[in-house]
Amino acid sequence: MGIFFNEEQKTFHLQGKDTSYVLQVYGDGYLAHLYWGKRLRQYRHSNTLQFVDRAFSGNPFSAKDRTFSLDTLPQEYPGYGNTDFRAPAYELQHKNGTTVTDLRYEKHEIFDGKPRLEGLPAVYTEDNQEAATLEITLKDQASGVKVILLYTVFHDRNVIARSARIINGGIDQISVLRALSANVDFRDDEFDFLQLSGAWGRERYMERNSLRPGIQSIESRRGASSHQQNPFMALLRKGAGEESGEVFGFSFVYSGSFLAQAEVDQFHNTRVSLGINPFDFSWVLESGESFQCPEAIMVHSHEGLGGMSRTYHDLYRSRLARGQYRDKERPILVNNWEATYFDFTPEKIEEIAKAGQELGIELFVLDDGWFGKRNDDKTSLGDWFVNKEKLPGGLDGLAERVNRLGLQFGLWVEPEMVSEDSELYRKHPDWCLHVPNHDRSTSRDQLVLDFSREDVCKAITEAIAGALASAPIQYVKWDMNRSMTEIGSAALPPERQRETAHRYMLGLYSVMETLTSEFPDILFESCSGGGGRFDPGILYYMPQTWTSDNTDAVSRLKIQYGTSLVYPVIAIGAHVSAVPNHQVDRITSMGTRGAAAMSGNLGYELDLTELTEQEKEKVKEQIAFYKGIRTIVQFGDFYRLKSPFEGNETAWMFVKQDKSEAVAFFFRVLAEPNAPFGRVKLHGLDEDKTYQIAETGQVYGGDELAHSGLSIPASLNGDFQSLVWRIKEQ
Ligand code: DGJ
Repeated sequence: MGIFFNEEQKTFHLQGKDTSYVLQVYGDGYLAHLYWGKRLRQYRHSNTLQFVDRAFSGNPFSAKDRTFSLDTLPQEYPGYGNTDFRAPAYELQHKNGTTVTDLRYEKHEIFDGKPRLEGLPAVYTEDNQEAATLEITLKDQASGVKVILLYTVFHDRNVIARSARIINGGIDQISVLRALSANVDFRDDEFDFLQLSGAWGRERYMERNSLRPGIQSIESRRGASSHQQNPFMALLRKGAGEESGEVFGFSFVYSGSFLAQAEVDQFHNTRVSLGINPFDFSWVLESGESFQCPEAIMVHSHEGLGGMSRTYHDLYRSRLARGQYRDKERPILVNNWEATYFDFTPEKIEEIAKAGQELGIELFVLDDGWFGKRNDDKTSLGDWFVNKEKLPGGLDGLAERVNRLGLQFGLWVEPEMVSEDSELYRKHPDWCLHVPNHDRSTSRDQLVLDFSREDVCKAITEAIAGALASAPIQYVKWDMNRSMTEIGSAALPPERQRETAHRYMLGLYSVMETLTSEFPDILFESCSGGGGRFDPGILYYMPQTWTSDNTDAVSRLKIQYGTSLVYPVIAIGAHVSAVPNHQVDRITSMGTRGAAAMSGNLGYELDLTELTEQEKEKVKEQIAFYKGIRTIVQFGDFYRLKSPFEGNETAWMFVKQDKSEAVAFFFRVLAEPNAPFGRVKLHGLDEDKTYQIAETGQVYGGDELAHSGLSIPASLNGDFQSLVWRIKEQ
């Protein structure tokens, strides 16, 4: 395993655990893609590149060969303008206004470990021996521009991490019009395209469609990764499913506007492109300056989507998330948002916390409404000082009351926003994103602060740090509740206005870096109206995310199932809330709400003081049960067994890494008359081991559970049912 360079053939063979990725310096220095798939012992060009004279696919000048065209060459980082007519990975505008750039191989370097990406989130190694990196420098002779491509292969994973850095090595200023992070040219189109799409309250629904000629793309133009499309796509071989078949995953470690697309060309090749959305983007590079593209994480699985997900989970849980909570079990929280909304008093908060303490809850989170004059969502964002009318004892007074009950205290903030009705906005009306001579569009009555500006970032960092230092705060929920509009900055010159959105992300990342390092004992959870920014970029700073504002147990099956495609279960915040559910008005049992929420990072979000004695008993049992399975759920391997996107039933399970214990959940949405007898086949257990099902006391072989499966009791009736099985090695 590692990276092997064949001097004679000029090929690079990146070998991971079960995957190989091969590229070559071809002809006059073009960087060609040869192979990505199952691990090969050696690459000897069995599937050799072939060239014929293709009509309307021109020939680059230096080739002097009518059969050679960039239009037919599978490439690693293609450009536009010199015979490749497919979507380019980059586009640069030179001083004379033209946009043709001809990148050729200049040099390369192979080294152990993985470099950090300046100012950007990225996966990392803890030891240089975990991975090897190939750094290839490409150069355009005419302009002096260089592009450095980074490829990291992890020895024990099926992961290739890619990024690109554009360096203006010439003397004139250039404009970067397009700067994608990864490009992969597959030599066929026999794939399905999988994406995670949705909206507020129904984030990350799985969509799978056959590829067709032309471009199939997903993107965000909202300035955040978005509820609507997640920065992830996969290509699945026809017939690939949950546990079998070949899958190629592409996940983008970025939280702003992105583009992910697959283009099927005239010869039925497929080009995948992934990066910052070129729409409304450009970046001026002075001589000597460079532009770092964010990282793309590419996963190969020959064990279907399940294999792909487990690779992402393990990598993102242990080599993307950071900080002291990375490897710790996460506290079970109660959040007051759906319990009180803005209408709370210290007494009410204390009552909820007390009820929580009696049930075994470990952390109380004070949500929106504690600052400025914030009694509804129209005011005070930006005024990060406590509302003394509402909380006369201050944040510290309240936190101490909660701490005295034995619970940790957590706080909600929304640092990136400002209300028009706020002291901050009255003082600094130019601190929000806006463009001259145009009205400022609001959303939820708020404006977006201009985090592309250092002064704004500094002021907000100080204000938030002040609030966090003012009380014993052990958890922060970092919210962000609107998409960007009028994306412009008062601090940037005209030619740099289209840099605003990416500069915003860099500013945001630096604020998050500062605050999370200044407060290492605080557990940070990100949120954006639920799951509007559930992406790997934010996970680098905050190891868990509020998955969706939709807390309905039935809706959550699809939301959590889709989210689990890429994101580790420990990151997936999941709360039991009141019924009728506040988002969809559905009534589900406490058992089913608990089972759905226990399938993630468990919390409660309802007025616990209003529970009946019977409900309290049930919640107490749930919490005790979750504490018993928490390590398996949060750190075990996740197997999806039945998809809510394919029918009325959902099932999934969590398996301890040594396969000695597991817990499985089953959900049936609607009861059906005369229904067939159901069963669930378990995955991930050791087929040679024998296990006992705690609920029934029955003992089965791992092989029997995998192939014959467990019966769903015929007595299970009624809508919105759930079952849980605790499985232990005998
Ligand atoms: C949106 C979040 O997703 C909710 O959980 C809650 O924190 C509200 N914002 C508060 O305004």
